[in-house]
Amino acid sequence: MAVSYPIVDHTYDAVVVGAGGSGLRATMGLAEAGLKTACITKVFPTRSHTVAAQGGIAASLGNMGEDCWQWHMFDTVKGSDWLGDQDAIEYMVREAPAAVYELEHYGVPFSRTEEGKIYQRAFGGMTTDYGEGPAAQRTCAAADRTGHAMLHGLYQQSLKYDSDFYIEYFAIDLIMEDGMCRGVIAMNMEDGSIHRFRSQSVTLATGGYGRAYFSCTSAHTCTGDGGGMVLRAGLAMQDLEFVQFHPTGIYGAGVLITEGARGEGGYLLNSEGERFMERYAPSAKDLASRDVVSRSISNEIREGRGVGADKDHMYLHLDHLDPAILAERLPGISESAKIFAGVDVTKEPIPILPTVHYNMGGIPTNYHGAVINPTPDNPDATVPGLFAVGEAACVSVHGANRLGSNSLIDLVVFGRATAHHIADTTKAGATQKSLPADSAEMALGRLDAARYSKGSRSTAAARLDMQKVMQTNCAVFRTDEVLGEGVKLIDEVAANITDVSVNDTSLVWNSDLIETLELQNLIGQAVLTMHGAYNRKESRGAHMHEDYPDRDDENWMKHSMSWYDGKDVKVGFRPVHSYTLTDEIEYIKPKARVY
Ligand code: FUM
Repeated sequence: MAVSYPIVDHTYDAVVVGAGGSGLRATMGLAEAGLKTACITKVFPTRSHTVAAQGGIAASLGNMGEDCWQWHMFDTVKGSDWLGDQDAIEYMVREAPAAVYELEHYGVPFSRTEEGKIYQRAFGGMTTDYGEGPAAQRTCAAADRTGHAMLHGLYQQSLKYDSDFYIEYFAIDLIMEDGMCRGVIAMNMEDGSIHRFRSQSVTLATGGYGRAYFSCTSAHTCTGDGGGMVLRAGLAMQDLEFVQFHPTGIYGAGVLITEGARGEGGYLLNSEGERFMERYAPSAKDLASRDVVSRSISNEIREGRGVGADKDHMYLHLDHLDPAILAERLPGISESAKIFAGVDVTKEPIPILPTVHYNMGGIPTNYHGAVINPTPDNPDATVPGLFAVGEAACVSVHGANRLGSNSLIDLVVFGRATAHHIADTTKAGATQKSLPADSAEMALGRLDAARYSKGSRSTAAARLDMQKVMQTNCAVFRTDEVLGEGVKLIDEVAANITDVSVNDTSLVWNSDLIETLELQNLIGQAVLTMHGAYNRKESRGAHMHEDYPDRDDENWMKHSMSWYDGKDVKVGFRPVHSYTLTDEIEYIKPKARVY
């Protein structure tokens, strides 16, 4: 379909889509290297979802006791249930301390120890001595507003550099030519103008797709826009079946209560007043990894030991902690508990329930941020000109289950690494001027179709159908029967996803139109999550399949790859990287994962 809209053209050396932690760090690094850089973001940078991260950022600084990158690596590999790529994990944990000191120098106001060092708290799955020692205090915190502090620090720094921010621009589709990314088409939501960015590279830093689910800690903006663009470009997504449920979302509201609350000494109780985590994880207890704690809570509820009138949630107690410590280290969640649950944390427990929090899967990349689209000859083949970072990406450092506080470090380590790699492979000012004649056709065709869409129901109703199916059929515990039904239901939702009515045809501040485009981004990832979960006949990390309760390394230690053309799902696999980056550490061999 040839649709005609006036187009404003831009030429850059490098373009980044998204201005959360990873997008800002990439933008800064690119501009610092002297590349003409644009950052396109659908919300003001300091409103990006990184702002909501609470408990902290992991790095083996050793400020509170002995620690080292090797222990951090062991915990991350074990946390990933051996699905993480060990070369990338080694890269992340080794770079982590320098990345945190860099943030400190950028002015991020970390909490401090008595001696003035960066304060670090305990987090789930973080241990000492390769899992044999006590919990590691590895998570560097700015009270319980670490993401907020980081995002503001990064944005302030980024203003120092000569990059151009396109704020409240919605990226619609990639410009691809002969398997290479040549730029991106975006719409300025303020005036409806269409912009074509040609560039030697596009880095997708668009966050996760938590809003495919009904109850999540993710912002309403977490609609997997990068993943949607990648799928429409005919490229693969990786490991989407691994969806993290954070153990402590506020019951009914889904708002996050940081794992740092348990790191500071909080604990979970069931209706019998029992600290049930002692049964499931005798050593780590409430600080076992998230998949383990979420499953334990769900199991307690299933077995009738939930609290409340419907016995359908659990209590998180902080009321035994010194109110001064709560005020100093957990002020944000104390406020959230008051607002969203009416609870004074110094006196009463917080009602909580596991809530969708993070996508381990995403756009496959190597540790340089280069997007992978495997070919029959090369499982690690990359797509020229296309990069991804942050939650949008699957590096894969988190494998089947991410450890809390490893996401913030992922953002800055790989945001920086990607910028360096692009800078090393880009010649400033050499962006090719010509583009394929149909460079804007897909984006504008989709925009036009959504704008004039007169279907049978609202976009909100269609989105709710998708969210309910995902919440019901692809949750903490999975079975063949429930997933099989989920595949059928989500395929039906997807088949009717464009049967919506958009309320008016304006391109200016038309939230209904933007939400329709966002829904088109979400649905592909929802479909592939459900299909991926149905296909994986084992249990690993966050994927707990009750018909196949054990991890099956022989058949399933491999990344799921999937493609979706809006109709058909295609699946494949690529090997997990079972080698490290240097010979300073050996491959960490699989073993039973107990906490
Ligand atoms: O619990 C939290 O503060 C969340 C941190 C994370 O997801 O890394």
